[in-house]
Amino acid sequence: MNQLQFENGDLMPTLGLGTWKSAPGEVGAAVLEALRIGYRHIDCAAIYGNEAEIGEALERAFAEGIVTREQLWITSKLWCDRHAREDVEPALRETLAALRCDYLDLYLVHWPVAVRRGVKGSDDPQFFVSLDEQPLLETWRGMEDVVEAGLARHIGVSNYSSKRLHEHLGERITPEVVQVELHPYLQQPELFNFAREHGAHVTAYSPLGSADRPETMKARNEPVLLEDEGIESIAERHGATPAQVLIAWAIQRGTSVIPKSVNPERLAQNFAAAELELDDDAMEEIATFDQARRYVTGSFWQKPNSPYTMNWLWERA
Ligand code: A2P
Repeated sequence: MNQLQFENGDLMPTLGLGTWKSAPGEVGAAVLEALRIGYRHIDCAAIYGNEAEIGEALERAFAEGIVTREQLWITSKLWCDRHAREDVEPALRETLAALRCDYLDLYLVHWPVAVRRGVKGSDDPQFFVSLDEQPLLETWRGMEDVVEAGLARHIGVSNYSSKRLHEHLGERITPEVVQVELHPYLQQPELFNFAREHGAHVTAYSPLGSADRPETMKARNEPVLLEDEGIESIAERHGATPAQVLIAWAIQRGTSVIPKSVNPERLAQNFAAAELELDDDAMEEIATFDQARRYVTGSFWQKPNSPYTMNWLWERA
């Protein structure tokens, strides 16, 4: 299995299992099956609402001797209502308790957006917290604190643009991983290069186009990545499936990648994609498929009562 190396020598397996949209009741079985297949990297988040069930599956996998904690790479993410510096450690401890682990390999700030704790409903005028009230660098200090406390080995950010990333350079720890939406329709070459120039690894989320997103997160008539004719024909040429081409493309590009599945056959198929080698023609052809198309636009943050806009979210350094 391909791995990405950190400055201290730690290794992150490039292929991980995504758990966004994996429903309680099925996520535990999916994680257990993934570990049996050979996955050694699980991507989680508090907001996915399924960490407790993942924790049960991990405990069972450890007890059954399928894998040890040391052999695993576990990522989770800080939700937007815990951005105060002093809230980061308690939030992480809740995630660790749910996952039944003593530490995370990687903890990410989930979005560069702060919302008020305990306020339900994003239309409430009290819902959003401005950056003046809750600066992102304060949140980042909380992230640095949990590394010092030994609760997270590495820290990074998710859904940050190069501009946001730029604002974090020169801190005690610079973000070590940037996790963003990446696939042939959204290749983000500028952010990809910026992150790598500054020593951050890049993780590709929604690598298969996340067609199982809630309907409210979908645009009308959006193209289905897994049904792209160009991807299909490359798949045919390589004796692979479209999903395998998308995963192999991400790995060959140098990112880590976290396809989600709860289906045993697709879990195995996706895992096998790590062994697929795309030829140069395929890599060059896929480079031309970019259409700067986000499936996860962040439009849910842009509301009349919100200080956050999509332009601000995705602005470049
Ligand atoms: P399922 O969980 O039933 O397998 P993304 O990783 O971009 O969020 O995409 C996840 C979506 O892609 C889910 O609907 C998932 O369904 C589906 N999926 C995962 N692996 C494959 C595959 N190998 N072929 C087709 N669809 C897949």
